Amino acid sequence: MKFNARAKDIPLSATLALDARAKELIAEGRDVINMTAGEPDFDAPAAVRDASRAFVDSGKVRYTPAPGRPSLRETIAGHLSRTRGVPFEAKEVTVCHSAKHALSGVILSLVSEGDEVLLLLPAWVSYFEMVRFAGGEPVAVPCRPDLGPDLEAIAAAVTENTRGIMINSPCNPSGYCFTSEEMKALCELCEERDLWILSDEIYSRMIYDGTKHESPVTYGEDARKRTIIVDGASKAFAMTGYRIGYLAAPPEISGVVGKLHSQLTGAPNAISQEAFECALAEEPAEVSDMVTEFDRRRELVVKGLSDLGLPCELPKGAFYVFPDVSAHLDESGSMGFCERLLEEAEVASVPGSAFGTEGHVRLSYALGEAQLIEALERLGRFLNAR
Ligand SMILES: Cc1ncc(COP(=O)(O)O)c(C=O)c1O
Repeated sequence: MKFNARAKDIPLSATLALDARAKELIAEGRDVINMTAGEPDFDAPAAVRDASRAFVDSGKVRYTPAPGRPSLRETIAGHLSRTRGVPFEAKEVTVCHSAKHALSGVILSLVSEGDEVLLLLPAWVSYFEMVRFAGGEPVAVPCRPDLGPDLEAIAAAVTENTRGIMINSPCNPSGYCFTSEEMKALCELCEERDLWILSDEIYSRMIYDGTKHESPVTYGEDARKRTIIVDGASKAFAMTGYRIGYLAAPPEISGVVGKLHSQLTGAPNAISQEAFECALAEEPAEVSDMVTEFDRRRELVVKGLSDLGLPCELPKGAFYVFPDVSAHLDESGSMGFCERLLEEAEVASVPGSAFGTEGHVRLSYALGEAQLIEALERLGRFLNAR
């Protein structure tokens, strides 16, 4: 069979591969604590489940318009206007099968052969492959030692082929959140060098210590016009399996992505659209309870890691920690560390190398407290035995 080389050579996502290996060991009867999970360990809110059930029972589960049903696009535009503080219209919103689908649609629509796209390390694993698949070149920009964006390094990475930059605040894997000064400086640079900004805001609700979520759209008319926001239901409402997300951008951009999706994937799942509309309209109390619980676990895990002598920035958002394990690595790097941690201590984690940042591992705290405490104990025994 002759394949499209870009499809054939695309690697399996490292997070999904490690998650699969952890699940394999669990199926063999091993007592693995899986800290690779990129999903909340909570059920979707009751109101969302009720709305999905009622919608199925209505029998009216049909195709919707490809960019999403009008009432959901209106609801998302209203939600963005309220939460980002600048007006959005329904025509700027394209509903997608997930945030991942929104991101890949934007990249396929904006990136041409040879275009460079800046990715801020540590960067989510799929960004690299999306840009490569579109024929572009991902350019990894190193971060500061505290894992925040290095504005000088970003400016230095821009060439005449650079078309855009992808940002993710709060960040997966580090939990870092842009400050207002950093966002302002980034927007100014993007205006100066005429770059689009793809702002992945999927963790914008999981934010702690009173930190304000920063979006480029609030930094003036120019930044608003060059920004594409991507968000969705997976993390915010514990609705990972519903597969529903969106992008919001000036109609010129959202329209092209909508057209592309109309040919490649068609309308998103109508049941999930109903469920998402319910979640956004009702703002179920379970969501804030979930964030409070993540906050508690974050403190517990960061303290536990510091007791083990592992340096770890206190993440301001998302539900991961990204400790520095460089003192414990051999030539096999963070991948070897994660493999040994899984086989010997039965704790599954994701290597920093998957995010372009060697020397770290990502641990998800989307797990119950007892499991987190047990995982920290296992990690401690593992480090002591070496
Ligand atoms: C940074 C980031 N963006 C996007 C996504 C994808 O979200 P969705 O489930 O909507 O595809 C994830 C999921 O892990 C993520 O971590």
